[in-house]
Amino acid sequence: MQVPVRSCLEWIEEYKPGRMVKGAIKLSSNENPLGPSPRAIREIVKSIEEGTLNLSLYPWEGEEEELRDEILRYIGFGTRMKKENIAVGAGVDGVLDTLVKMFIESGNEAIIPVPTFSLYESLVKIAGGIPRYVKRERGEEHFNIPVKRLTATCNEKTKIIFISSPNNPTGNCVPVDRMRDLIESVPGVMVVIDEAYVEFADSSLVNLVTEYDNVLVLRTFSKAFGLAGLRVGYAVIPEWLANHYKKVSMPFSVNSVAITAAIAALRDKEHLRRSVELVQHERQFLIENLQRFFKVYPSEANFVFVDVSPAKSYEVYDALMKRGIIVRDCSTFRGAGDSFIRITVGTREQNEKVVEALN
Ligand SMILES: Cc1ncc(COP(=O)(O)O)c(C=O)c1O
Repeated sequence: MQVPVRSCLEWIEEYKPGRMVKGAIKLSSNENPLGPSPRAIREIVKSIEEGTLNLSLYPWEGEEEELRDEILRYIGFGTRMKKENIAVGAGVDGVLDTLVKMFIESGNEAIIPVPTFSLYESLVKIAGGIPRYVKRERGEEHFNIPVKRLTATCNEKTKIIFISSPNNPTGNCVPVDRMRDLIESVPGVMVVIDEAYVEFADSSLVNLVTEYDNVLVLRTFSKAFGLAGLRVGYAVIPEWLANHYKKVSMPFSVNSVAITAAIAALRDKEHLRRSVELVQHERQFLIENLQRFFKVYPSEANFVFVDVSPAKSYEVYDALMKRGIIVRDCSTFRGAGDSFIRITVGTREQNEKVVEALN
């Protein structure tokens, strides 16, 4: 006899990653067109061969500490913060999973400005919580967060507000003053700022963690560092959260290959510089060429958000797919409507093919 699963699973949708078709140009998951740092690959192979990375052993605490030290140096928090301010996980996804378990229990609420990354709502639902959606502003504001409406949606059950900055799929960052307004108007709510794409942006909100107890910032190695396949990410958290995080997070959530690669990737400044430069340069190429046919929104991420109306997003998605190019049809994003596509910035050759196909 089948045993009933939790009733909340009825209204949870499976996460649908960007599609992958052999031989096609995949511009649907915001990955790094240059791939991982060659130094990270060499370090993995060398460490295994020399036996310093022993795959038969569980990851050692010291390796994770070294990663957290290296992250502190990378962020520039070497002296102002301690290792305890850095929490690691299996990608931002893994860190989010832990955070939602820490804050959301049955009947609690989380506020999600939409359209945005869909995992926030799934995790809240799985935890028995209730997502409250607030539409981002459109028009002149380019999908900025509506602070007054977000604050008005809060009540005593609200535990988290999720803010992706730069936001997936709209590509815009939240200006620091606006973020301060939000944080200060909801002192009893954890503001989770997801900076998965921050390396491609002009500024970061990470310093806010040093100022407020109700803020934390998420970062990943999946985008600018090109290590999406290894699943490693981190959160910059206020110190009071560190012990709670440790209790809830899965033991050994980041594997030792991922730790080794992430440390090497952080030390390979040149690969990071080249990756960011390529994206910023090619993003401009895509925007300039595509805005001849469509409305293209400004982007601080490694993708562009394109309004293809009067066509429907699925029509453009299908037409590109037939030409061997996979983009993201954003109609699957709650609140995005049916005329947006998201295109990951690729190499010049790939971007030229996109422009040509949409011409
Ligand atoms: C806003 C945002 N956060 C997090 C992630 C997932 O990051 P990770 O690969 O570190 O789990 C994505 C992936 O596309 C994303 O768009």
